[in-house]
Amino acid sequence: MPVDTALKSFFRPLLRRAFSPAVSGLTARIAELENRMRSKGEESGAGQDGDIPAQVQRLSREMDLVFTALYEMAHDNDRSAPFASRRTVAAFGHQWAEIPSGKYMLSDPVFKAQVDRIISEEELLMNRTWFGGKRVLDAGCGGGRWSYGLAKLGAQVTAVDTNPSALAATRAALDELGAKAEFVRSDLETVDAKLPPESFDLVWSWGVLHHCTSFSEALRSVSKLLKSGGLIHLYLYGRESIPLSADVALFKERLRYNYMQDERQRQAFLEEKARGIDMDVHHAHDIYAPIINRRFEFEEVRDLLEKLGFTHIERTLKHTELWIRAVKGPNAEAIEKYGLPKRDPPYWFQV
Ligand SMILES: C[S@@+](CC[C@H](N)C(=O)[O-])C[C@H]1O[C@@H](n2cnc3c(N)ncnc32)[C@H](O)[C@@H]1O
Repeated sequence: MPVDTALKSFFRPLLRRAFSPAVSGLTARIAELENRMRSKGEESGAGQDGDIPAQVQRLSREMDLVFTALYEMAHDNDRSAPFASRRTVAAFGHQWAEIPSGKYMLSDPVFKAQVDRIISEEELLMNRTWFGGKRVLDAGCGGGRWSYGLAKLGAQVTAVDTNPSALAATRAALDELGAKAEFVRSDLETVDAKLPPESFDLVWSWGVLHHCTSFSEALRSVSKLLKSGGLIHLYLYGRESIPLSADVALFKERLRYNYMQDERQRQAFLEEKARGIDMDVHHAHDIYAPIINRRFEFEEVRDLLEKLGFTHIERTLKHTELWIRAVKGPNAEAIEKYGLPKRDPPYWFQV
């Protein structure tokens, strides 16, 4: 893309909206460079003036620093930057309202038929006889696929999500089973104020905490709702899967998607991505729309869980992403009686 087009359509609006006070010097330099290019009538910096490519290179290195700083601000574990938080919540609101269908969703008959088995035998590694009558918090229920599976296993589900569109989709899924359930609209960070403390046997949070405004507050809050001896099950993105540099490159793409002018452009972007890497639009949206996408080392999460009083902290799937099961407090009777051995791949999402 010609440099001046990139400057106009991407860097400048982004900096103005998200980060302008801290980089006003840089934006002034961008404007200066743009003026010089215009006055020379050049389309790109690779023209006859040998001075300009050097400036563009320097600018590009500085932009990399800005993106890395933005990445850090978006992924602070205690509080993500407001621009990232707002857009991430909105992205999921849009997803459940407009593009709920996809592979491994409830619209996928193969997944739907075996979601209860997946929960018991591949994810949580607990015999299905354990679930009957258990109080389960689906923390960040999304389209309701796990609430549906947990209800099929006989659990009493409380579904929580910050987005009304997610709760509506989950309600529809549970209605299909005729299952009684509770629905709570809340941020996970504050859900401990809305439900009784120590009242759940299982907190199930699949693919949610890495998107929350505050990872540490959300984890603290849902942990308070768990009974002593209860289980927590988390799916989180693992740092091992994508090195930081590749992740920052992906983050740039997310910004590009988020700051597109209109919905048609965003839709075309996702469709192109979906075709290019053989996935569906729902999955492409998962990758490119939520700006907050933290990645963790297992040890980092284990230490946090230990500080919150968890024991028996284990990875349940052999994978570079993190599937973590832990027990609140020292009483591990549930897993001693009902625990299943860890399985080898392939797992449900690999076949
Ligand atoms: C990737 S989706 C996962 C949904 C579901 N667990 C699943 O696996 O299908 C993340 C969900 O978390 C919700 N979410 C994001 N931040 C949240 C927060 N701070 N509190 C509650 N829900 C949140 C989003 O609305 C979205 O439904």
